[in-house]
Amino acid sequence: MNILVTGGCGFIGSNFILYWLKRYPNDFVINLDKLTYAGNPQNLSSEENNSHYKFVKGDITDDRLVDELISKVDTVVHFAAESHVDRSISGPSVFVQTNVLGTEILLEKAVKHKVKRFHHISTDEVFGALKTSDTSKFSERTNYNPRSPYSASKAGSDHLVRAFYHTYGLPTTITNCSNNFGPFQHPEKLIPLAITNLLEGKKVPVYGKGNQIRDWLYVEDHCRAIETVLQKGEAGQTYCVGGLTEDILNLEVIKLIIKLLGKSEEEIEFVKDRPGHDEKYSIDWSKIKNELGWKPLHSFEEWLKITVEWYKEHQEWWKKIKNEEWKRYYQRQYDQ
Ligand code: NAD
Ligand code: DAU
Repeated sequence: MNILVTGGCGFIGSNFILYWLKRYPNDFVINLDKLTYAGNPQNLSSEENNSHYKFVKGDITDDRLVDELISKVDTVVHFAAESHVDRSISGPSVFVQTNVLGTEILLEKAVKHKVKRFHHISTDEVFGALKTSDTSKFSERTNYNPRSPYSASKAGSDHLVRAFYHTYGLPTTITNCSNNFGPFQHPEKLIPLAITNLLEGKKVPVYGKGNQIRDWLYVEDHCRAIETVLQKGEAGQTYCVGGLTEDILNLEVIKLIIKLLGKSEEEIEFVKDRPGHDEKYSIDWSKIKNELGWKPLHSFEEWLKITVEWYKEHQEWWKKIKNEEWKRYYQRQYDQ
């Protein structure tokens, strides 16, 4: 397979490329990434001399570049996006630019060059929010109801992908997954933020009362799900992908991390809530399990322990990210 991966220097994209090249060393992977604040080519330093891997620094909204790169591949796996909800609240415009327009440009070129598969990585946030007391889950049949600029832009991109399948017959697939965690995740997101703050002797900022619920998915389980959909998924279909957590509150997640690091619960700091904060996400992943045979492996606690160890062992990696620019972001976001 010749694959164009977009956003391959980000958290999930770099995990996916490492996973793929290990399992399919004869395939070719081109990684197109703009290297925004979230992109880190160091994640893929092990592949620098791999003749089956090529990194191209560029923007998915660059029509000419996208045209040239897609002409060389048979498969597109599209991760590139602005991905942080808080940043979409303070600056929504770039979310529309990258997530909506960028996806449209990729789709157009994929039609032109007749790619065999266009796989789009999306989110469960397009479905809106459940109540904490709800026992129902999001599934492929749930209506779209995005509530943040981030999720609205992802919903827009999903609609375009579906439209290109129906209108132009482009063989597309979509995965809508829940909150990922694991190695190489930017410390702006809750789990790595908590781990790295605690390792630095800083407090963990918890929005509101910390009583929101997320469905946690280990990134390697997600990579296996994408592999499964690429190999067995049906064009035009959407698959929901989630983890093994049972309704765990954000506050409980933080307490587990505190325990794993041998710290005190006094390190929790309740801060101003996120505007429009979605209460709960929960995913019904029975379609991908029953139709394609995928399921998540291992418990949340097991994967969390592995993740905490990874951040303990890779302090150089995240300390470089927590630079002066980060400190300014942190002040804007939390010191209010
Ligand atoms: P990330 O923010 O860690 O990485 C995004 C990558 O995209 C970065 O390397 C960045 O440089 C690149 N990028 C951004 N704008 C670009 C542009 N215009 N052109 C080219 N490259 C660009 O994101 P992530 O957490 O790895 O998420 C990857 C995808 O998965 C996104 O589409 C996101 O919406 C989706 N998703 C993420 C999660 C999660 O929990 N992280 C859950 C569900 C879905
Ligand atoms: O559900 C999938 C989505 O998960 C992805 O589409 C997004 O790209 C990804 O960023 C993630 O969105 P969330 O907003 O759920 O993730 P985040 O890590 O930002 O927050 C997780 C929960 O923790 C959420 O309820 C907000 C809360 N939180 C977050 C931060 C950064 C805090 O309480 N304090 C914080 O400092």
